[in-house]
Amino acid sequence: MLDIAQLSVSYGKIEVLHDVSMHIAHNECVALLGPNNAGKTTLLRAISGLVPAHSGSIRFADADIRNQRSDQIVAQGIIQIPEGRHIFAGLSVEENLLVGGARLKPRARRRQLDKLLDALPLLAELRARRAGTLSGGQQQLVVICRALMAEPRLLLIDEPTLGLSPVAIDDVFTTLRNVHGAGTTILLSEQNAELSLELCSRGYVMAGGRIVLEGDSAQLKAAALGEVYLT
Ligand SMILES: Nc1ncnc2c1ncn2[C@@H]1O[C@H](COP(=O)(O)OP(=O)(O)O)[C@@H](O)[C@H]1O
Ligand SMILES: [Mg+2]
Repeated sequence: MLDIAQLSVSYGKIEVLHDVSMHIAHNECVALLGPNNAGKTTLLRAISGLVPAHSGSIRFADADIRNQRSDQIVAQGIIQIPEGRHIFAGLSVEENLLVGGARLKPRARRRQLDKLLDALPLLAELRARRAGTLSGGQQQLVVICRALMAEPRLLLIDEPTLGLSPVAIDDVFTTLRNVHGAGTTILLSEQNAELSLELCSRGYVMAGGRIVLEGDSAQLKAAALGEVYLT
């Protein structure tokens, strides 16, 4: 579904991603691990067309999307959940979710909202709450669900558990497990290797702007848990 080959990305004159290759098949959940400054966010932003890539290729569903405009990439079903929890604090949970379905016709949007709230009971009970009054973990669930309103074919999620309590982290992973179980293809950037490798079947480890390790989750756990770049 997604095929990245020898991708390099620079900010100005400084190259920060070097020769990155990765692939994601339909229905996979793939972990993108690595410490701060490894290049995870830059890679997700390059896939979404938010930073230009100066060499290599990014193919999605057999079309070359490298350096397409970000709105064209969204229209093909690649939806990114950026770092940080950007909710509309003054709107209700339900209103936040409806914003995520802005591209749908009103009836389809309602249908999608009802379907998602049925599948995500943790959110259903919060639907009338003002989003600004929710905990960080609850806000993260809203942001995930808002992205699902756009009916993603590929969901890119950037460090959704950063700064959350252990209980909230569990809720986020439970929700992601439901989302993946319902058929969404996911690329999950995380520093929590242990939980990510329980959820995902495969992963890549980045450091210094390169992929330094890849494999199925069992291999990555055996090879790398405890190594500096996974802690
Ligand atoms: N807007 C930017 N301008 C210049 N350098 C940046 C910018 N954003 C990130 N970088 C640099 O790119 C590298 C990769 O950062 P990033 O992709 O944010 O890593 P991660 O998400 O893994 O923490 C880092 O060295 C960081 O300092
Ligand atoms: Mg980042």
